[in-house]
Amino acid sequence: MIIREFEFTLKDGRKALIRSPKEEDIQGMLDYLYQSAEETDFVLRYPEECSRYTAEGERELFDRINRSDTEAMLVCIVEGIVAGNCQITWNNRIKTRHRASVAIALLRDYWNQGIGTRLFQELIKIAEDHENILQMELEFIEGNSRARALYEKMGFRITGVGVNAVRLKDGTLLNEYHMIREIKR
Ligand SMILES: CC(C)(COP(=O)(O)OP(=O)(O)OC[C@H]1O[C@@H](n2cnc3c(N)ncnc32)[C@H](O)[C@@H]1OP(=O)(O)O)[C@@H](O)C(=O)NCCC(=O)NCCS
Repeated sequence: MIIREFEFTLKDGRKALIRSPKEEDIQGMLDYLYQSAEETDFVLRYPEECSRYTAEGERELFDRINRSDTEAMLVCIVEGIVAGNCQITWNNRIKTRHRASVAIALLRDYWNQGIGTRLFQELIKIAEDHENILQMELEFIEGNSRARALYEKMGFRITGVGVNAVRLKDGTLLNEYHMIREIKR
């Protein structure tokens, strides 16, 4: 789906634009995917795995998500740079349509500026606007205290743990924590 675009001001005074992805974001999104993988172990891709992302693939992804009734991507643009994005996805299957999955990642230069909070406010509104959705779900990797703080602030709570769900290149095994946030109906 296409979201209504809006602007807001970061804690450091820069202006951010939030909107659905557009053709002009393709290169910025490819750069963001690679750079975010370099900057943090808390996303599931390593930089060298980003070669599977292509301009054509991003075009198709944007097109699919923007046309979908059960998916939205919110891109955050700061001074012309794709600073990050978040997504919400659910499905129409009777047994699982009450569950929406969400995910978010930003480039390091934009952490702690309030973008995550603002994006989550929008994700929650989208969930509230779709009556089938009764809960939002996400995962974070052990040690990601910033993400956990954001999610708890936004009303999520831990419901489970995927033991050793992530294995870094050096062999370190990390748990993945599952969280949900109920939508009041
Ligand atoms: C996690 C992430 C999405 C958070 O977004 P953000 O825009 O930085 O978050 P916000 O600035 O809106 O809020 C972060 C909150 O965490 C707090 N925080 C920051 N660092 C923290 C830390 N190390 N421990 C605990 N809390 C912390 C901040 O004070 C802030 O809370 P406040 O608004 O009450 O002051 C972002 O930092 C990011 O993309 N990180 C890298 C990728 C990633 O981890 N993605 C999530 C995968 S599950």
